[in-house]
Amino acid sequence: MEVVIVPSAQQGSALAAGAIAQLLRTKHDAVLGLATGSTPLGVYDELARLHTDEGLSFAEARGFALDEYVGLPPDHPESYREVLRREIVGRVNFAPGAVRTPDGWASDLPAACADYEQAIVAAGGVDLQLLGIGTDGHIGFNEPSSSLASTTRVKTLTPQTRADNARFFDDDIDAVPEHVLTQGIGTILRARHLVLLAWGENKAAAIAETVEGPIRAMMPASALQLHPHATVIVDDAAASLLQKADYYRYVYDHKPAWQGI
Ligand code: GLP
Repeated sequence: MEVVIVPSAQQGSALAAGAIAQLLRTKHDAVLGLATGSTPLGVYDELARLHTDEGLSFAEARGFALDEYVGLPPDHPESYREVLRREIVGRVNFAPGAVRTPDGWASDLPAACADYEQAIVAAGGVDLQLLGIGTDGHIGFNEPSSSLASTTRVKTLTPQTRADNARFFDDDIDAVPEHVLTQGIGTILRARHLVLLAWGENKAAAIAETVEGPIRAMMPASALQLHPHATVIVDDAAASLLQKADYYRYVYDHKPAWQGI
């Protein structure tokens, strides 16, 4: 695992967007794993800028969202399908239908989950998966106690996650769905490069446990320790509880110039 500590979320977002741009330039039909939440928004802004200013093309790329709420009204602005359309898909030149989200409106949810797993495999797997992290250490919507081998399935949100996400629902926790579909931790670990982002002090405890704590189902993001190419990009505040922060800074400062993240 590589830990990159940056002075600001803006710099971290530019670093992640640069890695995605580099991937798209070398592999035009790359498969991107897209995350929601507030954390990746700066990455999407930078990708939209690169598309507009430098002609970065998504025309052959495909994308898979990590997760989706179950049962929101179909055109609800906070469904992840709609969030991704607003924040990235509609701002660049993805082909119609190239970006999928799990179908949280399906009448047969387990079948929709199996179909989603199969679609990721059929696309050749995810090349680069963006990840945020919940304050309880969840990735996607894999809440604590999620199997580290799990695949796409229905999950029940914890009260903590519903409270965290109430800000997207006019601070009304009752409006936050109780159930979601999410790629499993096993699904996420099959992506070829994982890039986890975290900004701010409220993520510091989860980041410290993810990077330096034991691998355990109660801290789902700690599964990244099992991945051969995982990059954790954090700002100073999110890095504030890392015991080896000086070491991570030293390693990054001494990286060979040709080696990307
Ligand atoms: C949400 C999403 C996650 C996201 C996390 C953190 O519930 N399902 O994919 O990483 O919570 O959200 P934020 O980036 O807004 O802090």
